[in-house]
Amino acid sequence: MAISIKNDHEIDLMRTAGQILAKVHYELKRELKEGMTTKDVDRLGEEIIRSYGCIPNFLNYNGYPASICVSVNNEVVHGIPNDVRRLKEGDIVSLDAGLIYKGYHSDAARTHGIGEISEEAAKLIAVTEQSFFEGVQYAKPGNHLVDIARGIQSYAENNGFSVVRDLTGHGIGKALHEEPEIPNFVRRRRGARLQKGMTLAIEPMINAGSYDVWWLEDDWTVVTRDGRLSAHYENTIAITDDGYEILTLHPEER
Ligand code: MF3
Ligand code: CO
Repeated sequence: MAISIKNDHEIDLMRTAGQILAKVHYELKRELKEGMTTKDVDRLGEEIIRSYGCIPNFLNYNGYPASICVSVNNEVVHGIPNDVRRLKEGDIVSLDAGLIYKGYHSDAARTHGIGEISEEAAKLIAVTEQSFFEGVQYAKPGNHLVDIARGIQSYAENNGFSVVRDLTGHGIGKALHEEPEIPNFVRRRRGARLQKGMTLAIEPMINAGSYDVWWLEDDWTVVTRDGRLSAHYENTIAITDDGYEILTLHPEER
């Protein structure tokens, strides 16, 4: 299977899907508070997505039982919301969400601190977010996926953190996960050559300690093997004539 190329009309639809998701994250960030259960966060996220007439694309995806992934502290990604765990001061919480608008998917993640967080946690969140921008600056026609990966990895590692190897970003469009895989670390193979009309979800997962992860018994929740913190930041982007456009950024972010 080849990487799908979207025409301008499709990019318009994906831009709308992305801008709605940006609002979802913006509203979630505003409402996120100590004492909420992770299920409260999921319910709220689903409600906001549906309030825009969109469908949460994670719900039932390969059997995933919720609309939002809520991953706390040592959880890297795909944390399943539950009504037992309550967010508490000092936690860091990764919210990964996506939706479908007129048949097109968007996907984005943000990591937030609850109340006052440790210096290490704050640095991890900031470096993870910035690592996305250090990578995405290489997203333009003619460059290869490895150019993005190199930007992400070198920034994260220069700041003393590590890049998760077992999970990657992905193409996105009429499906949540399309080709290609988008690693956040340099592989021997340079990967696909970027072209106008490609739409990609770039999602660095950065660990405070070692990059090693494992899966909990629920077969979804990915946690750090050393129990240290992990953060996640993701946007859906489109490759343009001479660079990229970030589809899931809120006007008041960055
Ligand atoms: N952003 C996540 C990813 O690309 C989507 C989660 S899929 C779900 O892996 F099944 F967990 F919902
Ligand atoms: Co994704």
